[in-house]
Amino acid sequence: MKVFVSADSSSLSIGAGEVADALAGEAQRRGLELDLVRTGSHGLFWLEPLIECERNGQRVAFGPVSPPDVPGILDALQTDDLAHPLNLGSVTALLESQGQQRINFKRCGFVDPVSWDDYLATGGTQGVRKALELGPEAVIDAVTRSGLRGRGGAGFPTGVKWRTTHNAAADMKYIVCNADEGDSGTFADRMLMEGDPLSLIEGMVIAGFAVGAVQGYIYLRSEYPHARRALQAAIDAAYDNGLLGNDVLGSGQRFDLEIRLGAGAYICGEETSLLESLEGKRGTVRFKPPLPAINGAFGKPTVVNNVITLATVPTILADGADSYAALGHGKSRGTLTVQLSGNIRRPGLYELPFGVTLGHLVETLGGGTASGRPARAVQVGGPLGAYFPVSLFDTPLDYESFAAREGMLGHGGVVVFDDTVDMAAQARFAMEFCAIESCGKCTPCRIGSTRGAEVIDRIRVGIERSANLALLEDLCDVMEHGSLCALGGLTPYPVRSALKHFPEDFGMSVGAAVATG
Ligand SMILES: Cc1cc2nc3c(=O)[nH]c(=O)nc-3n(C[C@H](O)[C@H](O)[C@H](O)COP(=O)(O)O)c2cc1C
Ligand code: SF4
Repeated sequence: MKVFVSADSSSLSIGAGEVADALAGEAQRRGLELDLVRTGSHGLFWLEPLIECERNGQRVAFGPVSPPDVPGILDALQTDDLAHPLNLGSVTALLESQGQQRINFKRCGFVDPVSWDDYLATGGTQGVRKALELGPEAVIDAVTRSGLRGRGGAGFPTGVKWRTTHNAAADMKYIVCNADEGDSGTFADRMLMEGDPLSLIEGMVIAGFAVGAVQGYIYLRSEYPHARRALQAAIDAAYDNGLLGNDVLGSGQRFDLEIRLGAGAYICGEETSLLESLEGKRGTVRFKPPLPAINGAFGKPTVVNNVITLATVPTILADGADSYAALGHGKSRGTLTVQLSGNIRRPGLYELPFGVTLGHLVETLGGGTASGRPARAVQVGGPLGAYFPVSLFDTPLDYESFAAREGMLGHGGVVVFDDTVDMAAQARFAMEFCAIESCGKCTPCRIGSTRGAEVIDRIRVGIERSANLALLEDLCDVMEHGSLCALGGLTPYPVRSALKHFPEDFGMSVGAAVATG
C-alpha cells in the first residue's frame, strides 16, 4: 500500500515524523507492505499531520492524524467505505471546493519533491524544453505577455526586468533567487522549496537561457535547513539528469547552480543588500541606480527574482502566456499564493487567482478567528504592511486595490488578529522591528525608528498626546521620504494605518481627526 506523509517543516513541527514512524511500525506488526512516500505539504495546515493513502489509484486523505489514530486508519483502509472520523476524502476535491487554482503548488504534497521520475510524470521540464525551442527573445515575450509580476513584494513586471538584463552587454551574467523570505507570516517560498524544488530550478534555467546567464545562486536563509536539504538533493538530481550543467537537456546551453546561505537578517531580503551578502560582505543596502539588472552580483548584470516568481515561469512556458494571463484581476495576473496565519481557524497556503476579497479569505476560507472572537485587524504584506480593519474586508487581493487603500500585498502574507489586539502596541512593534532590522546606513531609519517607538510610548500613556501625534506624523513623513530603501520607507504604513483605523487604541475617540495619514 502506498501512503504519503508530508516531510515539510511545518508538518514535522506538529508531529508528521511521529505519524510516519507509527505507520511504518504498525504496518510491520500487521505484515502489511507499506510504500511510504515523504512529500511536501498541501498547505492545509489545520489538517496536518495529514496522510494520504492510495487505493485503486485513488488517494484518500486523513487528518489531523496523531500516532494513536494510525491503527484505526489502517483498519478503515481494509473496509470498502473507509469509514473513519478523520477521513477527509480527496485533497484535490477539497482544494477545488475552496476555489484554489494551483499553478505553483500543483505538485506540492502530491509528489516526492526530489524524485526526478515524479517530476517528469507531472509535466516537469516541459517549460524549459519549450523555452529552448522558442529562443531567448520569445521566452521574454511570453513572460511579459503573461503579466507575471515579481512576488517578492513590489510586483515589478518580470519580463521588463529580464529584458533589461538580456540587453546589457557583459561577459558574465547571473540569476539570483531571493529565498530570504523574511516577511512575518510568510512561508510560501519555504513550502515550494521543500515540496517542489525542481520547479524553481527549472525556472532559473529558463531565466538564465532568456537573459544569457550561465550561473545561478539561490540565496537561502540558514533558518531553513529542511529547504536546504531538499534544494541540494534536487540540484543533484538536476545535474544527474542533465537539467543543470554544461549541456542543458542536450541543447548545448550551460547553466550551473549553487546555494548560498544567509544568516537571516531581514534587510538581506532587499535585493542590493542580498547581493552584498552573497558576495561575502556585510548586508547593507546599495544606492540605486545602477539597478542590479545592469550592475548586480560581482558588478555584472543580474536578475534577482523571488522563489515564487521563478517557479511560475515553467508553467507559463508549458501552458502558454495567455492561459496564465487569463487568471486574475486588473493588472494583477495569474495566482497569488496567500499565506494565512495568526488568529485564524484554518491557517495555511491558499493559491487563488488575484481578485478574491480579503473578507472571503478570512471569513469563508479561513473560517474566522481561531479564538472564536470577532476579527478586528488583518496585516497584509509582512511587517511593513498596513493593518486593515473589517470595514475594508471588501478589498480585492490585487496590487492596485491594496495600494489604493494605502496598503500593499507584498509577498502575500496575511496575519489575522481578533478584537483583543492592542493596535498601539502593534504600531510600536513596527517601529521596534525597523530599529532592530535597520542596516544602519541612513538616519531616518536607524534613529527615526527608535525615536518612533519612544513617541508611541508617550502617546500610549497620554503624555502631551496631540503634540506627540504631530511629532509622530512628522517622523513618519521623514522616514517615508528620507530613507534609502523600503525598510525605513514603509515602516510608516503599519503605524499610520493603526492610527487611522484604530484611533481609540491611542487614546483618541473613534471618529476623531487623526493627525497622521
Ligand atoms: C526590507 C526588504 C526586504 C525584502 N525581503 C525580501 C524577501 O525576503 N524575499 C524577496 O523575494 N524579496 C524581498 N524584498 C524585495 C527584493 O528587494 C526584490 O524586489 C525582489 O527579490 C525581486 O524579485 P521579484 O521581482 O521576483 O519580486 C525585500 C525588499 C525590502 C525593501
Ligand atoms: S532605510 Fe534602513 S535598512 Fe534601508 S538603507 Fe536606510 S538604514 Fe538601511
